[in-house]
Amino acid sequence: MGKDKVQIFDTTLRDGEQVPGCKLDTKQKLVIAERLDELGVDVIEAGFPISSPGDFKSVNEIAKLVKNATVCGLTRAVKKDIEVAAEAIKVAQKPRIHTGIGTSDSHIKYKFNSTREKIIERAVEAVAYAKTFVEDVEFYAEDAGRTDNEFLAQVCEAVIKAGATVLNIPDTTGYCLPEEYGAKMKYLTENVKDIDKAILSCHCHNDLGLATANSISGVINGARQIECTINGIGERAGNTSLEEVVMILRQHPYLNLDTGINSKLLYDTSQMVSQKMGMPVQPNKAIVGSNAFAHSSGIHQDGVIKQRETYEIIDPHDVGVNESSIVLTARSGRAALAYRAKNVGYELTKLQLDEVYKNFLKFADRQKEIMDDDIHKIIETSNVGIESIA
Ligand code: KIV
Ligand code: ZN
Repeated sequence: MGKDKVQIFDTTLRDGEQVPGCKLDTKQKLVIAERLDELGVDVIEAGFPISSPGDFKSVNEIAKLVKNATVCGLTRAVKKDIEVAAEAIKVAQKPRIHTGIGTSDSHIKYKFNSTREKIIERAVEAVAYAKTFVEDVEFYAEDAGRTDNEFLAQVCEAVIKAGATVLNIPDTTGYCLPEEYGAKMKYLTENVKDIDKAILSCHCHNDLGLATANSISGVINGARQIECTINGIGERAGNTSLEEVVMILRQHPYLNLDTGINSKLLYDTSQMVSQKMGMPVQPNKAIVGSNAFAHSSGIHQDGVIKQRETYEIIDPHDVGVNESSIVLTARSGRAALAYRAKNVGYELTKLQLDEVYKNFLKFADRQKEIMDDDIHKIIETSNVGIESIA
């Protein structure tokens, strides 16, 4: 049986760019959009066109440039927003309007001072109006994570009737547990009339560190689109990380779900976004952090040198990383030292290695990490009769 496709909706340029201090200009956004298209994302959310003339211009330029992906513009459930977004994306090969409104009781009461009935009316009006401009209309039920499932199902049913092609179920505040978010998707799959006419989409925030887990739980329970960002950047603690969901689905083939992402471009894309946004990637970030394929303890190093799979579940080449690294610290063992020494040109006998290792530990206790230059010095001062070849 073929795998079910999970669409990747990238919102690096919209939700991702909401990070304070990470604003990009149009030129930078175009470079990133082109790369996202090459990466194979299905949808690029290019921005929120009514928010500023600059954002309108960026969305419009991206719509002209992108060849394969759908280009999407965000709106509120407000006519003017929808008109402006429609204008910005109308040149796209595949345009989409993403409109919506808050559906949780707290949003209805405090943001809109409204009622559930009126919210459904506004949602339906917005979708129907967006439909007059484009065929592909995605509806978001903001704060769906804290919206009562029965009411959420009513909203979904009403907007499908109005023509929504995708139903975005955002856990806007990052509150849900994976089981709860998955159960929400399952409930909607089983209780919304004509649900097969639309795709359910996961949009999760990382306030409790659960965005990736929630998105995976969502697709296990019937969703077929994940909204995510490169490096997981986004409001507050960020959004679901694109590289994480892509590799989770790939490394767990029995889920029978796949994305069309060219994973070999993941590392390079992560670096590109980090540099353009001036936002460093944390070293221990899954998949793309500088330590994701680095081994420093002696036990792990010995295992990886013998057989990579002992301590690695992903082949680094699959995500565009050249090789795993063996980092030399005071916790490293002889196998790692011999391996790194060989890499810089020394073939040590067992006796030589024992001597050099004693000297290595003295150096390693004084500094955080032993680099290639240090290896030459350590060997030269080890009294094993080998001249440095540095
Ligand atoms: O988190 C959220 O609810 C959003 C919507 C605007 C889609 O980003
Ligand atoms: Zn969001």
